[in-house]
Amino acid sequence: MKVYVTRMIPQSGINKLKAKGYEVDINPSDKVLSRKELIKALKKKQYDAVLCLLTDKIDKEIFDAVPTAKIFANYAVGYDNINLNDAKEKNVMITNTPGVLTETVAEHTFALMLAISHRVAEADKFTKAGKYKGWAPMLLLGTDLSHKTLGIVGLGRIGSRVAYHGVKGFDMKVIYYDVKRNEDFEREFGAEFKENVGDLLKEADYVSIHVPLLDSTRHLINRQRLSIMKPSAYLINTSRGSVINEADLAEALKNKIIKGAALDVFEKEPELTKGLEKLDNVILTPHIASATEETRSKMSEMAADNIIPALENQTPPNLVKIS
Ligand code: GLV
Ligand code: GLV
Repeated sequence: MKVYVTRMIPQSGINKLKAKGYEVDINPSDKVLSRKELIKALKKKQYDAVLCLLTDKIDKEIFDAVPTAKIFANYAVGYDNINLNDAKEKNVMITNTPGVLTETVAEHTFALMLAISHRVAEADKFTKAGKYKGWAPMLLLGTDLSHKTLGIVGLGRIGSRVAYHGVKGFDMKVIYYDVKRNEDFEREFGAEFKENVGDLLKEADYVSIHVPLLDSTRHLINRQRLSIMKPSAYLINTSRGSVINEADLAEALKNKIIKGAALDVFEKEPELTKGLEKLDNVILTPHIASATEETRSKMSEMAADNIIPALENQTPPNLVKIS
């Protein structure tokens, strides 16, 4: 069996594939392959499986380059980089890596929420620049998170874990919006369901986005929706950049329509909307919410654990169901 891996990932999953006796070829350059390069690499051998990343756009043309592949195992929980209809048409299995990154992404979400509230990035820049000349009562005043209202958009695994931290760690009140209501969650966390996203946006002090990128969630947050948020509110995004209209957000931050934002994901990664980098009321991290040593290794193993059964004619545990 032959497996192609589109970029170096932690070794643990690669070792699992090799232990099976599979031939594993890895993109030797530590960069995203262009479409042309990827197609060329896939055509080299009759690969049985491909381990791909969220930075690879996977569609019919890619599947056609490697007709022997039964599975594309995405090294991510999100799989908006893959055209599922094309996968279905070509009879290719798609898998993802849910669960193992939930705690890590929720931690990063809180790192961002705390950092923007307590102005950690600004304060770090200030201190390192030698500007700290002595304690001052009005220096870099921030905002408390405790007892505020946390609005969760998308109550999946990650959204629920963020809510957990908010309630257990900071006595926050949780409101949430999702396509599905979850009454058990409401009881457990004293949370309140909002039937539409606008009702949540009006009320939340912190809005944290945890939906997958779908046609129905693209630009869910736009100029109109930003305008109904509180001027004191913060927006956090660790899901996918395109859930927010980034130009609208940059404009809203510049004009103080909302107080601040913290973003780990962007509409046209790795590019940023111009002007965002100049603003003090936004914190930007380079899509690292799942990037801990522990979690990235687990994701590597999980991708391998999806590929192995697929190549043994069994159903992989994290098969994406395509309707
Ligand atoms: C990262 O963004 C992922 O979807 O795993
Ligand atoms: C993703 O893992 C989610 O369900 O939030």
